[in-house]
Amino acid sequence: MAGPGPRRSAVGVGDAGVTTVAVVEGDDAAPEAVRPVVALLDGMGLGIEWTYPEPGPEGLGVIDAADCTLFGATSGRSAAALFHLRWGRQTYANVRPLRWLEGARSPLASPGGIDLVIVRENLEDVYVRAEGDLEELARPAPVSLTWRRPVNELGPGRFALKVITDVGCERVIRYAYRLAQSRGGRLCLSAKHNMLPRTDGLFIEVGRSLARSYPAVEVEVLLIDDLAHQLVLDASRFDVIVVPNLYGDILSDLAAGLVGGLGMAPTACYGDHYAYFEPAHGTAPDLAGTGTINPTATLLSGTMMLEHLGFADPARRVVEAVEQVYRAGRVLTPDQGGTATTESFCAAVADHLDR
Ligand code: IPM
Ligand code: MG
Repeated sequence: MAGPGPRRSAVGVGDAGVTTVAVVEGDDAAPEAVRPVVALLDGMGLGIEWTYPEPGPEGLGVIDAADCTLFGATSGRSAAALFHLRWGRQTYANVRPLRWLEGARSPLASPGGIDLVIVRENLEDVYVRAEGDLEELARPAPVSLTWRRPVNELGPGRFALKVITDVGCERVIRYAYRLAQSRGGRLCLSAKHNMLPRTDGLFIEVGRSLARSYPAVEVEVLLIDDLAHQLVLDASRFDVIVVPNLYGDILSDLAAGLVGGLGMAPTACYGDHYAYFEPAHGTAPDLAGTGTINPTATLLSGTMMLEHLGFADPARRVVEAVEQVYRAGRVLTPDQGGTATTESFCAAVADHLDR
C-alpha cells in the first residue's frame, strides 16, 4: 500500500539503522489490541524502536520526531494526538483497504472477491469543524436554493460549513489514481454532486480532470447514495474508491461490516511528510477489560506501517499468517464467532509466522 503513496518522512527511516515508531495506545479497549500487536511486530526483530508519547505538547514532539505513529483509537482522551496526526501533520489520504479474508464472518452469502480500498479525504469537508448558530451568520446570509430564503431566516438553529478546496481535492485524488494504477486499474469517484454542485461538484470536477494524467485508469463516477447501494449489492466490483471526508467515514464502516466488522478494517493515513496507522474501529468501550477485542484491524494497520517503513517482506509474512489463522478458523475472537482472547489470537498469528 505504501508504494504509490506520498514519500515517507524525509527524516529518519533507516537512517542510523534505527526506525522509530511512536505508539499511542488510545482509549478504552484500544490498548488491549495495540499491546499484543506491538509485541508481535517487535518480536520480528526488525530493529524498530517504540516510543510512547505522553499526553501534552511534549508528546506531540515525540510523535513528530518518530518515523511514523501507530495509533489505537480514541474516545476523547487521545483526541489531541489524533488531531495532531491528521491536521498537525497534514495526513490528507485516509486509506482503508477492505478485503474479505476466508473464514471471517461476513453477513453476505458470498463475500469472496471483496478487495477494495476506500481513499477518504482526511482533512476537509465538515471535518473543518466550523459550526455556529444561524444568527451568527453575517447578513445577508447565504440563500438556501431549496428554501429560497437566507438560511438565517429558517429559524433559531445551527449550521456547519462543508469546505472543499482545489488543493484538498487534487492531492487526495492523485493519491487514489496512483493507487488504482498500481492495483486493478479502476477508480470510482463519488460524492453528492447533484445536490451540492459547488462543493461535491468541485471534487468530481477535479477527479475527472485528473483522468487525463492517468490514462491507464478506468474512471467511474457515482452518486454517493448509489455507491452505498452498490457496495452492499456487489462490493467485489470495486477496486479503489475516492470520496470526500464524511462519506468516507460512513462508507468505510459500511464496507467493514461487509467483510466481517470493524475489527477487520485497517487504516493508513498519508501526508507528504508523515504517516500514521490506526484501526478504522472505535475504542469498543463495551469490550474494555475483557481482553477480547479483535486485533486484526490493528495488526493489518501494522502491516501497512511495515510496508511504509520499507519492510515489505515482513509485512507480507504477517498478512499471510493472519490469513492462515482465519482460514483455519480455530483461534478467532468472539466478534468472528470464536472464543479466543486478543492475546491468543496474536499468539496464533505469531505461531504461523514461525512456521
Ligand atoms: C474514524 C473515526 C474518527 C473519524 C473519529 C474518532 C473522529 O470515526 O477514524 O473513522 O470520524 O474520522
Ligand atoms: Mg469512522
